[in-house]
Order: sequence, then C-alpha cells, then structure tokens
Amino acid sequence: MNSNLEHIYPVFDKMLPREAKENLLSQRGVVVWMYGLSGSGKSTLANLLERRLHADGRLVKVLDGDNIRAGLNQNLGFSNEDRLENIRRVSEVAKLFVESGIITIASFITPSNELRKLARGILGDSDLLEVYVKASYETCAVRDPKGLYARVKAGEVKQFTGKDSAFEEPDQADLIIDTEAHSEEECLSQLFDAVVQKSQLQQD
Ligand code: ADX
Repeated sequence: MNSNLEHIYPVFDKMLPREAKENLLSQRGVVVWMYGLSGSGKSTLANLLERRLHADGRLVKVLDGDNIRAGLNQNLGFSNEDRLENIRRVSEVAKLFVESGIITIASFITPSNELRKLARGILGDSDLLEVYVKASYETCAVRDPKGLYARVKAGEVKQFTGKDSAFEEPDQADLIIDTEAHSEEECLSQLFDAVVQKSQLQQD
C-alpha cells in the first residue's frame, strides 16, 4: 500500500450512487480513451464526437493532452516517468467524471501498452472503450497541425513520440480508427456507433 495512505480513510458507500446520476442524465457513463501519435486526429475526432453526442442530448466532457498539460499536469514533461504520471492522473480524473454518469473522452498519445494497461486498471473493462487512432509518423509529419514535426526535424524538440521516444502499436484495442484510410465523417460515425453500443444508449 502507498505509505501516503496512512491515516487516510476513504468512504465511498455513503455517497449518492452513480446510478442516481445516470438516471438523472438518462445515460450511462463511459470513457472513450483515444490514443495515437500527435497529429493522428485524436483531438479533431474527440471534439467532433463531443458535438455529435451533445446534439443527441448527451452530457460529454473532453480531456485533451495539451489542455490538461497546460493546467492540472503543467509540472509534467515527456520522460517515461512523467508520461506515466500524466496518464495515471488523467485516468483518475476520468474515473471521477464517469462515476458521475458523464461520457468522458480522453485524448492522449498514451504511447505504450503499459500506460494503456494502467488506464484500464484504474477505469475497469466495463467503463472503458479503448480506441487507437491510427496514422503513420510520415502522415502526421505532413499534416503537422501544430508545426511540431517541423520543429522536431530542426532538432528543437526532444523526447518526441515516434522519433526519440517510442510509440508502441497496441496489443489490445476495442476499436481502430484509421484516419489515413477513412474520411473524417466515416471515422466519426464509426466512433459514434461504438460509443452508443458501449454505453447502451438508445438512439432516438
Ligand atoms: S502522453 O504521451 O503523456 O500521452 P499527451 O497526449 O499528454 O502525451 O501530450 C501530447 C501533446 O503534447 C502533443 O499533442 C503535442 O502537442 C505536445 N508535445 C510537446 N512535446 C512533445 C513531445 N516531446 N512528445 C509528444 N508530444 C509533445
């Protein structure tokens, strides 16, 4: 046990149960964990998915790597150790949201299977939809929406995922969205259908 937990007495059983909140919202909470290289299309799809679900009357929250790293995780960098702490904290935050019945979209590179397992361990199988947003390094470098790949090429960014920091292909994913092979609209509808199925939402 973590020694920091000495004299800490978590009590969960007196809290209003999750089902009460899900009934209020008429939805079931689920975490859609989208991972893949920077520039693979995670944030774009996360934002489109949020709007699509919102338009369908669902309460959704997006947690996005750059945004979370600008606030909650601003003390973390890109070493393996910091990425692990990033994913651990985000998983715990996502758990708080999902336990409130909110459909939570987490958009993080999550570069290794170890990190994906960490998130799954915290969130649990039944609340997690694991989505690999797939695009090659070369394609992401051409898209280069933030100009980061150009800066990597110029030697200005260290520990960059896919370059001098590893990106592992997944050994388990509930869904693979190939953003090179499919249009934005096709990817969105694959995602939307999977979320509806996972969260057992009734489509009106
Ligand atoms: S993760 O590896 O810990 O999951 P996360 O998704 O939070 O990464 O952050 C990735 C974002 O940080 C990228 O989309 C990019 O905009 C920015 N970034 C800055 N430096 C790096 C780097 N060295 N490697 C990857 N992303 C970086």
